[in-house]
Amino acid sequence: MRVDVVTIFPAFFDVLEVSLVGKARGSGLLDVRVHDLRDHTRDRHRTVDDTPYGGGAGMVMKPEPWGEAIDAIVADASAAPIFVFPSPAGEVFTQATARELATAEHLVFGCGRYEGIDERVFTYAASLGRVRMISLGDYVLNGGEVASMAMIEAIARLIPGMVGNPASLVEESHEDGLLEYPSFTKPASWRGMDVPDVLLSGHHGRVAQWRHAQRVERTRERRPDLLPSTD
Ligand code: ADE
Repeated sequence: MRVDVVTIFPAFFDVLEVSLVGKARGSGLLDVRVHDLRDHTRDRHRTVDDTPYGGGAGMVMKPEPWGEAIDAIVADASAAPIFVFPSPAGEVFTQATARELATAEHLVFGCGRYEGIDERVFTYAASLGRVRMISLGDYVLNGGEVASMAMIEAIARLIPGMVGNPASLVEESHEDGLLEYPSFTKPASWRGMDVPDVLLSGHHGRVAQWRHAQRVERTRERRPDLLPSTD
């Protein structure tokens, strides 16, 4: 998978090198390219924003640098990309979104700052590929960088070959609508707290039953919105 990121803070993405994504980059499964939006400005001050038409607070990102950055990425792309613009005004990112985007050949993340990006940039991107406006959740970040990083990690670990043990993908939170069961390792007793007996029993059927019950209980307690409604 190829992932391009356009941002005014390329340094944010340095940490991708040291994470799971860094390993995948080395193995050729994932090709991440980070671009500085300011490299596509033409003025001495490398201006990327301006005041909004119609007035109002804050600044809006100018369309010209975005247009050039997008053109440069698309010029050496083999397939029409999916453009992802992180925004608190987008659809909410879920594991299902990650699964869907993990099948894409080419993703382009456009990280907005300030009050947003000139709306015509989205229309232009839509003429070159699919456009998704995606929110990480119902809160406001300073820009799209942290949101992009979270999405890239969630997507990249679903690419076949990225996670050492694919079975670990199956039983985790959100894969089947339930939260994950609690985990324990040695020692069996620690600071007066004992690992539940059933996990030491060696009885696979009972372990599976207990874990399922724990998942349902946890989901009911912490995320009742994930369970089918009973009314
Ligand atoms: N940019 C600012 N806030 C955001 C959010 N909640 N999700 C994605 N991008 C954002």
